[in-house]
Amino acid sequence: MSVLLEVEDLTKRFGGVTAVDGCSFTVDEGTVTALIGPNGSGKTTVFNLVTGCLPADSGAVRFSGREVTGMSPGRLYQRGLSRTFQQARVFPELTVLENLVVAGGWSFAGLFRQRVSRADRVRAAELLDEFRLDRVGDLLAAELSWGQRKLLEFAALLMSDPRLVLLDEPTAGVNPILIETMEAHIRARHAAGTTFLVVEHDMQFVMRLCDPVIVFDRGCPIASGTPEHVQSDPRVLDAYLGE
Ligand SMILES: Nc1ncnc2c1ncn2[C@@H]1O[C@H](COP(=O)(O)OP(=O)(O)OP(=O)(O)O)[C@@H](O)[C@H]1O
Ligand SMILES: [Mg+2]
Repeated sequence: MSVLLEVEDLTKRFGGVTAVDGCSFTVDEGTVTALIGPNGSGKTTVFNLVTGCLPADSGAVRFSGREVTGMSPGRLYQRGLSRTFQQARVFPELTVLENLVVAGGWSFAGLFRQRVSRADRVRAAELLDEFRLDRVGDLLAAELSWGQRKLLEFAALLMSDPRLVLLDEPTAGVNPILIETMEAHIRARHAAGTTFLVVEHDMQFVMRLCDPVIVFDRGCPIASGTPEHVQSDPRVLDAYLGE
């Protein structure tokens, strides 16, 4: 298996807090890799550094063999690296369908001048159908439930046909039926060749879906391996129990 994402010695401080501390790990192409760890262990900050949402103090990020450290989220998106946010980010004042079309790379102005390409419209319609959002396609995103917004955010990033998708807590606050739906979509996309890095607190979800699992504590990995391996690692139990 080849390495798709390589994080090397990343560090990020916020004042006196070292959120990410000399952190190194890799994500192999074709995996659904989990990033787990206690609250405040630096998972979201790592996502922010990898996706160019925050600058790192030091360290490097390589995607598909190329150095992408500090590259903007937009350029990374075009290169095939996309992410979702812990609090789903959608455009509340646009309809569900418009959210998908905009994610295809078209500006608001383009949308209203109706210069959206036919290919993007077709793709958006396919995703609406695939995610069973067609019934709510004309609703404003603001009218969706929390879980539906997360689903829409996931569907929207697929407009770019990404190679690597970073999901930050895809199931948090989502009802059990929608969690199953989310899981089915991740599995389907994974089967179609997409690689995933998933931050998640729901351990059953992680153990069902992810391999390998990287465990974070205080800003860097303390263990990694198969779900079974990390579950029996005493350092992992210590990290979660707060020693
Ligand atoms: N913008 C910021 N300014 C100051 N401190 C921050 C900022 N973002 C994160 N931190 C701090 O960095 C540390 C890591 O936070 P981060 O959000 O990355 O953790 P996390 O592992 O994603 O936690 P959770 O599981 O609760 O989402 C925490 O101590 C947090 O308070
Ligand atoms: Mg977080």
